[in-house]
Amino acid sequence: MSALDLEAFARDGFLVLQGFLPSADCDALQARAAELVAGFDPGPVRSIFSTRDQGHAGDRYFRESGGAIRFFFEESATDQPVPLALNKIGHALHDLDPVFDRISRQPRIAALARALGLVQPLLLQSMYLFKQPRIGAEVGWHQDATYLSTRPVTVTGLWIALDDADRDNGCLMALPGGHRGPLRQRFHRVGDRLVTTTLDDTPWPDTAPAALEARRGSLVVLHGLLPHASAPNWSVRPRHAYALHLIDGRAEYLADNWLQRPDLPLRGFT
Ligand code: FE2
Repeated sequence: MSALDLEAFARDGFLVLQGFLPSADCDALQARAAELVAGFDPGPVRSIFSTRDQGHAGDRYFRESGGAIRFFFEESATDQPVPLALNKIGHALHDLDPVFDRISRQPRIAALARALGLVQPLLLQSMYLFKQPRIGAEVGWHQDATYLSTRPVTVTGLWIALDDADRDNGCLMALPGGHRGPLRQRFHRVGDRLVTTTLDDTPWPDTAPAALEARRGSLVVLHGLLPHASAPNWSVRPRHAYALHLIDGRAEYLADNWLQRPDLPLRGFT
C-alpha cells in the first residue's frame, strides 16, 4: 500500500487493492469452505440470516456464533441443496479452522493492518460469504461499527473477492467519504436479546454510490463508519467472498456488542 493509497483511504473510506490475494489462497479458501459445507448437517431447522429481518436475532445459534463456525441460510432458499442455499459461514473461521487461520494471518495481511494504523490489531470476526447465483440476497446500507463497536471506532473490514465481483452479481457498493459521518445505529445485546438502537438520525450522505468491482483475489478495505451495501445476485454466477474484521486492542471493546467470545480470547497476527 502506497502513501497515495492511504490518502485515498482517508478521503473515501475504502480502498480496492486489485490482485492482493494469490490465486492459490483463493483456491484454498474456496476448497476449505466446500469441505466445511460438506461436513455440515443442518438438521431439520435452517438458521436464516437476513439483514432486513432480524428474526434470527433471538436465535442462540446466531448469538453464540462469535466464537464458533456456524452456517446461515439464504432466506429465499427453499429447494436448493445445502451448498447452494447458504448465505454465509461465521464468525470465528480464522481462529478455529487451520486453513482460514493460515491465510488470514499471513504476513502481507499483518503488514496491511499495520499500514492502516492498527497498532494492536486483533482478528475479531471472519465470514465466508456465498452470494449464491440467483438467490444471493441484498445486504442493506450499513456501517460495520453498528455491529462491532469499539471506543473509539477502530473496526476495519478486509473483504476479499473469491470470484470476480461486478454489478451483475452483487459487488460491494459504497458512499465515498461517508465514513466522516456519525455512527447511526448499534446492533447489541440487552440481556439475552439482540436489538437495534438508533444513535443518530442523520441520513446517509447524498453521494452517488460507487460500485467496488473487484476481480478474484482483490481486497477491499472498508472503514468501520463507511456506509456500504451490496445488491442481490440475479446472475447465474456465484459471488463468493471472505470478510475479516479487525479492531485495535488499544480501544475499548463494548461489553454489549452482539459478538462476545467468553471462551475464545481474541488474537492478533501471531
Ligand atoms: Fe459490512
